[in-house]
Amino acid sequence: MVRNSIPMKIGISAVIAVVVVCLAPWFDRGTFAEEVALSQSTIEQAFPTSSKCKRCHERVFEEWETSPLSRSIHSPAFRASLDAFLASPAGKDKAMCFRCHAPHVREFSNQVQLFINQAKAGDPSLDGVACAQCHLIKQVDRTKQPPEPKYELESKTVYGPYKDSVQNRAHQSIELGLFQKSDLCLNCHQSVTSAVGLGKANDLLGNWDQSKAVKSGKECQTCHMPEQVGESANGERKRKVANHTFPGRIGKLRQEAAKLDVKTKIEGENTTVMVKVQSLVPHNLPATHPAWASVVLDLDIKGKNLKTVFTDKRVYGRVYQDAKGQKTSFDFEAVKVLEDTVLKPEEMRIETFTFPTPKDTKTFDVEVTLNYAPITGTTPFLQRVEAESSKGSQDPVFQPVEIVKYAENVAISK
Ligand code: HEC
Ligand code: HEC
Ligand code: HEC
Ligand code: HEC
Ligand code: HEC
Repeated sequence: MVRNSIPMKIGISAVIAVVVVCLAPWFDRGTFAEEVALSQSTIEQAFPTSSKCKRCHERVFEEWETSPLSRSIHSPAFRASLDAFLASPAGKDKAMCFRCHAPHVREFSNQVQLFINQAKAGDPSLDGVACAQCHLIKQVDRTKQPPEPKYELESKTVYGPYKDSVQNRAHQSIELGLFQKSDLCLNCHQSVTSAVGLGKANDLLGNWDQSKAVKSGKECQTCHMPEQVGESANGERKRKVANHTFPGRIGKLRQEAAKLDVKTKIEGENTTVMVKVQSLVPHNLPATHPAWASVVLDLDIKGKNLKTVFTDKRVYGRVYQDAKGQKTSFDFEAVKVLEDTVLKPEEMRIETFTFPTPKDTKTFDVEVTLNYAPITGTTPFLQRVEAESSKGSQDPVFQPVEIVKYAENVAISK
């Protein structure tokens, strides 16, 4: 009897310890570290981390992991701009950026500081836009501007595209048409609430719903989550599945962004290159958040010995002005659009370049490229981004990304 009571006692005190730790945040008795761990675990009970889904959805997980979505609160540019935002007058609304970059903050508004600390730490264990952040959305309220997601957190149910989902031990599944509709994406991609100063000008996609592609029945998923055949869950083979790498700036989709039609006319001393830029994108190109996003058309003329004899460019994007009348590359500071050259949905733009016909050569090369431009901003901001990146100045944000390229060798006939 006496011997038996010892383990008994340990048992009870263990139970008491657990109760105390669980109640700690309410009684304010736990250490700070315990509180943080607890609030994070409360968040993760409602929004299980993607690593919980990986076990059974390995393919989807690996695709998502390579996508920009998996780095929505990790990227050096995000962390540096978050700092700038929090230091600005608009930064009083601390949850702002997370409403799209880690949307579960909507359900945990009292935990904003945890989200901020995690993002700032650079290696957050908290998810940004991961599996649960999309698959627990039950409804998107389009009466709100931008539309707002409504989460279902009470049951262990995920929403998805299948009518005939196979049973499993982890969760129930409900088919929801929303998952094959643009509405699901619009709550984050339509317009940015932090750019309030801009009013209506803060629209990222333009008249996308009037485009030929959309009128012919295409949704965001058609292009950005292309259909393939594969495993939906480990062992569930030969299903129609959707690609979760979210091709955009990264991936093959960008080769379908635009067509370049180039005509060169030599008229004695002068040469004219006419470029028809046909956007095939059913929304603005580029989408103008972050505000430095721009696409650049570069012309490069190479004469004798492939030496560049002429260059010029056109920039497609938006230039914003802040309240002090300065140009700014932060939309949360913007009050006015100074210049708007974005390519509108499926727009065709004609650009003409005139330059002196190259000398001492029988031929010359015409090279035209369309690129996503690298990040721009003030020197301190760019230095901050560099410092936040483990790759420093080699971080991909500092490199242009080629969309399409045209090259031709032109003969000068005498
Ligand atoms: C909860 C908000 C949210 C929802 C919902 C959402 N996205 Fe995004 N998306 C983001 C954020 C934030 C990023 C930027 C991630 C980063 O790079 O930091 C992003 C990035 C992307 C990119 C990469 C863009 C690029 O520049 O390469 C694509 C493509 C994309 N999303 C498509 C979609 C599609 C399609 C849907 C609907 C099925 C969708 N997104 C739903 C927030 C969201
Ligand atoms: C309404 C939703 C929304 C809000 C609010 C929002 N973002 Fe974004 N953010 C996005 C989406 C969507 C993308 C991807 C855009 C694209 O690729 O076209 C993105 C991309 C970015 C990027 C480029 C990708 C990266 O991670 O480097 C940065 C930087 C960024 N956002 C910073 C911020 C900051 C800072 C705030 C708060 C001031 C903020 N965003 C608020 C939706 C939002
Ligand atoms: C940005 C929102 C978003 C994120 C993040 C996301 N999904 Fe999806 N997922 C979708 C949409 C939308 C569909 C339906 C696409 C369709 O059918 O056109 C889908 C489809 C699925 C399906 C059905 C089978 C298939 O592959 O199409 C599974 C399973 C799934 N997702 C699991 C996951 C898991 C696991 C993660 C995290 C690793 C994840 N999803 C992240 C939006 C998302
Ligand atoms: C124990 C294994 C297991 C785990 C863990 C698991 N799933 Fe699933 N999930 C499945 C199986 C099996 C299916 C059915 C696949 C099919 O029908 O082809 C499925 C289907 C889905 C679907 C499609 C539902 C539909 O009706 O379209 C989604 C979305 C999904 N899971 C998301 C998740 C998310 C998010 C997580 C992590 C929070 C997760 N799953 C964790 C096994 C699992
Ligand atoms: C007909 C195909 C198609 C449809 C439909 C489509 N897009 Fe795109 N989208 C593209 C192409 C092509 C690009 C440009 C190349 C690239 O970056 O992949 C692009 C680029 C993007 C980018 C990243 C680059 C940027 O300019 O900022 C985002 C984010 C994006 N689209 C979101 C969406 C959303 C949200 C929807 C639904 C409202 C949508 N797209 C519908 C084809 C499409």
